[in-house]
Amino acid sequence: MSNIILFGGAFDPVHFGHINMAERASEFLDADVIFIPAAISVWKKESAIPEHKINMLELAIKESPLKARFSVSGYEARKKDKDYTYTVDTIRYFKEKYPKDKLYLLIGQDQVNKFHLWKEPDEIVKMSQIVFFGRLNEEKESENIKKYKMIPISGEINDISSTNIRELRVLETYDSVLKYIIDNDLYFMRQIKESMTQQRYEHSKRVGWLSYEIAKSNNYKDPHKVLIAGLLHDLGKIRPEYEKESFKIIEEKHPEYLDLPKPIWHQVIGVDKAKSIFGIEDKEILEAIEYHTTGNANIGDIAKIVYAADKIEPGRNFDSTDLINAMKCSITDGFVTVLKANVEYFEEKHLEYKNKFTLACIDYYLK
Ligand SMILES: [Fe+2]
Ligand SMILES: [Fe+2]
Repeated sequence: MSNIILFGGAFDPVHFGHINMAERASEFLDADVIFIPAAISVWKKESAIPEHKINMLELAIKESPLKARFSVSGYEARKKDKDYTYTVDTIRYFKEKYPKDKLYLLIGQDQVNKFHLWKEPDEIVKMSQIVFFGRLNEEKESENIKKYKMIPISGEINDISSTNIRELRVLETYDSVLKYIIDNDLYFMRQIKESMTQQRYEHSKRVGWLSYEIAKSNNYKDPHKVLIAGLLHDLGKIRPEYEKESFKIIEEKHPEYLDLPKPIWHQVIGVDKAKSIFGIEDKEILEAIEYHTTGNANIGDIAKIVYAADKIEPGRNFDSTDLINAMKCSITDGFVTVLKANVEYFEEKHLEYKNKFTLACIDYYLK
């Protein structure tokens, strides 16, 4: 006989907190853990489809040292009759599947006091032992804990939220999951995609990921912020059919840009969009978007990374391997190298680059 924890949840998407809870519960009870993502709610537009949630969980559990004890079940997520998924049915299914094993049901702390309202709670506790993450003083207050003989697992409760990840406020999940979200246009990526052409979108993904890699290889303190800035940098690149809109925004909100070349307008429009669509207020992220085309004097590390990544991402039609490596070795030295190469390119092609921001940038970093 072995112990099995049934861990149900939305996992939309899975994050560090989920895996951390599973690890602690597994060690506490000496048990295997089966993650059971819930069926999709049709009304929840921003939700990922069941296959995506399952795939992301599969990726996440591979990152855990306890991966041999972890598995994912599509029992609820793939169920056809999705409106009628009750926990009691799920437990019946697993009881039949593993008749000799001891089943634990891990429930959220917010469900402890509501458990009596679930469908057939007595049946549930006949077939399984309820466990939850909780603090001792709260336990005393709950009748349900006594009545249903629930076992608390003590320790800090992780407050990472999937909603915050879906809305691009934090990205507290594994790189493999983040890559999956980006590659499959989930959550916040869908909103970015809607804002730009397909070509621009693919470029944004590459800039985002390269910025992230540069940040990590430099041990930058907050690489997720760099990823966000990279993904959003071209948000102001309005689809060609809305060009008039772009003129209006510049005229009304940023008249100082009117006598600057049109191709650089999108950097300041991008700042407005990052604020209005994603509620971004972080000054370093906004600065990176604002000067990603032109650069500027005395810019922060995120701005340096995004400026460079925009110019040297692998989809650009030249071999940028050396420049990418330079950025991965040092943000500041790499930035100077990329800036120099960019100025040389402009000179060679007789392209106009002498706007006030680029000149300030050259003056500050190259002289
Ligand atoms: Fe741009
Ligand atoms: Fe770009």
